[in-house]
Amino acid sequence: TTPKEIRIESRTYKTDEWYNTPSSILDAIPRRLHLQPDHPLTITRKLIESRFPSHKTHNNLFPVVTTLQNFDSLGFPLDHVGRNRTDTYYVNKETVLRTHTSAHQADTFRNNESEGYLISADVYRRDAIDRSHYPVFHQMEGARTWDRQQAGRDGKSVAQVIWEDVAKLPKHDIAVEDPNPPFHIERNPLQSRHAPEEAEAIAAHLKRSLEDMVVTIFNTARGAANTAIPDEPLKVRWVEAYFPFTSPSWELEVFWQGDWLEVLGCGVVSQPILDTATVPERVGWAFGIGLERIAMLLYSIPDIRLFWSKDTRFLSQFSESKPIKRFVPFSKYPACLKDVSFWLRSSSSAAGGASSIHPPGTSSAATPPSSHAQSQYSAQPVIEKSGTHAGSPTKLSAATPTPTPRSTGTATLSTSTSPSASIAEGASENPIPPAAPVPAQAIFHENDVMEIAREVCGDVVEDVRLTDEFVHPKTGRKSMCYRINYRSLERTLTNEETNAMHERLRTLLVVRLGVELR
Ligand code: PHE
Repeated sequence: TTPKEIRIESRTYKTDEWYNTPSSILDAIPRRLHLQPDHPLTITRKLIESRFPSHKTHNNLFPVVTTLQNFDSLGFPLDHVGRNRTDTYYVNKETVLRTHTSAHQADTFRNNESEGYLISADVYRRDAIDRSHYPVFHQMEGARTWDRQQAGRDGKSVAQVIWEDVAKLPKHDIAVEDPNPPFHIERNPLQSRHAPEEAEAIAAHLKRSLEDMVVTIFNTARGAANTAIPDEPLKVRWVEAYFPFTSPSWELEVFWQGDWLEVLGCGVVSQPILDTATVPERVGWAFGIGLERIAMLLYSIPDIRLFWSKDTRFLSQFSESKPIKRFVPFSKYPACLKDVSFWLRSSSSAAGGASSIHPPGTSSAATPPSSHAQSQYSAQPVIEKSGTHAGSPTKLSAATPTPTPRSTGTATLSTSTSPSASIAEGASENPIPPAAPVPAQAIFHENDVMEIAREVCGDVVEDVRLTDEFVHPKTGRKSMCYRINYRSLERTLTNEETNAMHERLRTLLVVRLGVELR
C-alpha cells in the first residue's frame, strides 16, 4: 500500500520500492521544534548560537534531501551502513529525509556567504526505542573556513591568519584533556593537501571554539538557581574519531555524573567537499552537535518524547527570558510491560543482521546491527587500525542522547579505502553519483520492529528491548522475544487500550515481517 507519490508540505515526490517513511514521521516535519518560542530546543540552539556571533545561521532548510547531499557529497562509501533502508527514511531511491545536518555542508560552502555558518534542523533516523532515542531529533552543524589566497594577498600564510584568530577567542579555565597529537598517520590522518601547520592551526581554532561553547552552556545552566548542573568544575576531553567528511576528526566528551559523555563530533573539513562546493581555496573546520542531548543535560529532562509534548505541564516550564531551571517532572504514570515472542522466517538472518543494501554485483555481506544510529557516521572503515576508542564512552555525538550504553553492538564498515582518498583526485566538479545500492531484501532488522511499535503506539511506547533470543537446535530457526514498555507521559493507560495496542503490534509483526508468533 505504498502511495504512488507523497506530498511533503508544498512539494510532491514520486515514491518507489525504496519508500519506507511512515506517515507518523512525515507528521513531525511541520513541527520545527527548534523554532518554537520558549521551547527547550530553541533555548539550547540560541545559547549555542550566541557563542558564534559572526556565523550566518540557517534554521529553515528543508528536510527532504538527495542521497547526493546526504551521503555522496560527503564521501560516504556506497556500502556505508548509514545508507541502509533499515537506518534511513527513504522517499525514493535518490531522496531521503536528511539523517544529519551535514547533508547541507556542500551547498552551504558553495553559497560562500560568510566565513562561518550554523545550521540547526530536524534530522531523521530509524533507530531503537528508549528514553533517549526518537526517530526525529535535532542537530546543529557549525563550520568556519579561511581562504588561502586571501591570506596570500595579505602577505600571510593561512596558518598565520588562523593563529591570529585563535588568539582572539575567549579564554576559559576548565581542565581539558587532549592526549593525542593533532594528527596521526594511521588513526587520524592529515589530508594530503594540508600542510601540518595548517591542520594544526585549524584544529586549535576548532578545539578552543568548541571548548568555549560547552563552557558557556554549562556555566549558563550553573548560574541559575535550582540548577540541574552539579557544582563541580567542568571536565572535558578530546578523543580521536572518524567521519567520512573530516580528517583529522575528534569527539568532545564531557564528564557527567560519573561518565564521559560524547557531546559532539568534529574535524578538519575534507578538501574534496570544498572542491565540490567550488571553493577549493578554502580550508576549515566543521562540527555537529545533538540539541536534545544538550537540552536533556541542561534541564534534566528524563525522556526524549517530552520534547514533542504539547502538554502545558511541560511547555510552561521553559522560557527564553528566564534563567535555566531544572525540569520538574509531572507525575510518572504506571508502566505496562508486555512481551512478544516469535520465530523468524527461516530465510531471515539474525536480528539486526544483514545490511539491506549492497552495491550491485557484490554479495550482501552480513553487517552487525547498527542499532546505534549515532555511531554509524563515526564508524571506522575496516582497515588495519588499532582501536582508538579504548574505554569508549557512551556514544552520543551529534545524534540522539544515550545515557546508558546499549547492548546491540556497533556498526562496522566494509570499505577499504579512506574516503578522502577515494574522491580526492581531480574532483573539482560535483562527484559523479555512484551507482545506487539496491533496495532491501526481506531480512529481519530490529529497527523494523521499532517502526511497527511506533506506528501502533505513537509516543505511548517508552522502551522496546530484546529480552531473549535463541536458535532452535534442531530446526535452526531463530526465536526472538521483545519486551514493550507501554507508558504515556501524560496519563494512565487503560488495560483495554494497552491490550488492543499489543494485539495490533503482534498482528503487524506477522503481516509486515512474516514472523511466526510463539
Ligand atoms: N554529521 C555527524 C553526525 O551526525 C557529526 C559531524 C558534523 C562530524 C560535522 C564532523 C563534522 O554524527
